[in-house]
Amino acid sequence: MRYNLAMRILGIETSCDETAVCLIEAEGNFPGRTGGPSFRWKTLGNALISQAAMHAEFGGVFPNLAKREHAKNLVPLLQKTLNESGLLRHSKPRGLASRELSGILEREPELLAQLVPFLEQNGKPDIDAIAVTYGPGLEPALWVGVNFAKALSLVWNIPMVAVNHMEGHIILSMMGIQPPYRDLRNPDMGKLAEFEFPVLALLISGGHTELVLSKEFGRYELIGQTRDDAAGEAFDKVARLLDLPYPGGPEISKLASIARESNLRSEIKLPRPMMREDNFYFSFSGLKTAVRKIVEAHPDMSPDDKKKLAREFEDAVSEVLVTKTMRASEEFGVNTIVVGGGVSANKYIREQLAVACQLQTVNCKLLIPPPELATDNAIMIALAGYFQALKKDFADSSTLRATGNLKLAPLEK
Ligand code: KG4
Ligand code: ZN
Repeated sequence: MRYNLAMRILGIETSCDETAVCLIEAEGNFPGRTGGPSFRWKTLGNALISQAAMHAEFGGVFPNLAKREHAKNLVPLLQKTLNESGLLRHSKPRGLASRELSGILEREPELLAQLVPFLEQNGKPDIDAIAVTYGPGLEPALWVGVNFAKALSLVWNIPMVAVNHMEGHIILSMMGIQPPYRDLRNPDMGKLAEFEFPVLALLISGGHTELVLSKEFGRYELIGQTRDDAAGEAFDKVARLLDLPYPGGPEISKLASIARESNLRSEIKLPRPMMREDNFYFSFSGLKTAVRKIVEAHPDMSPDDKKKLAREFEDAVSEVLVTKTMRASEEFGVNTIVVGGGVSANKYIREQLAVACQLQTVNCKLLIPPPELATDNAIMIALAGYFQALKKDFADSSTLRATGNLKLAPLEK
């Protein structure tokens, strides 16, 4: 059953190495805006393919491989999502405006070859908007999703919403999804966390490390970011130095937690870059260099030495992130901290943030999505897309461009 006033939003995410498609149903507005029924949502279908194992060979995400894989994966993922949602309607083969479609997917011939028969054989699904990530991310990868959304929007005559990937992470975190969350299609799970603005968002992913202040829903001020490597990038690079596969975050985390359980502690202390500086900037490249120097000076590191180093590295990243986040929350009088991005899947960082939040004030509220939803997915894009669609903030297909360095907000001077 559809909710009474619900909208169905198809979400498409291809900014990095996850290809994801999902369909959500949502209704109501965010509290504090125009009133109306309170917001609720559910996932009708959700499908994702991670390319991480493929990129592992290159030690990081290889943009053209990501582009090719997205092009290969999108139609099967769309089919799976619509099928799961019960919205896939086979119909008699029909003609399409294939010249226009070929124009849109000129650079994705493989995607076009799969999409045409799919659209010819399946009727238009009952959905209200198509939300797609248009940045930030790897531009060749983003274009695949954007062009796919344009093609669907044209053929189905459904409006398109262009979503900032980082806003997707923030809004998903604001949902305050708590265990048990296994069945995303459970209509009861789609409530909104209770919290008050201003909100501080710590965004930590493979490409970003940012502190963002949000005084009202949908408005953001960037108060600090990394001057060089992102936190996830540092995890990935340090993992490579320790001969661990990509993505490095979970691998380092595994070694570090074994070290903690076995009481293995590094004799060498790593730096905590910029931690004591009176600003909200970060820097992780020096930390990676420090690890490199240690590895070079000890070419025959034992497995235990690697575990100790992984622990010390995770300690260093965690301490810097937690210290600066807490200081920012104090300075801006914030009680609610939302955390998003792949690195927020890190168990130790989650724990340390929770401890710091408890020590801060009794009111401090920490919202972090479950690890499975902390990394890239399409649900976050559909959710952010819903709120844009509510405002009728639709994208113009003829001018929408993938924007690799898209910003959430200008940096405050
Ligand atoms: O948000 P995300 O999925 O993609 C980007 O938008 O970048 O983040 C991916 C990043 C990778 O650098 C990966 O190593 C890191 O998140 N990551 C982790 C963990 N799981 C993923 N870092 C630390 N600990 C983890 N458990
Ligand atoms: Zn991300």
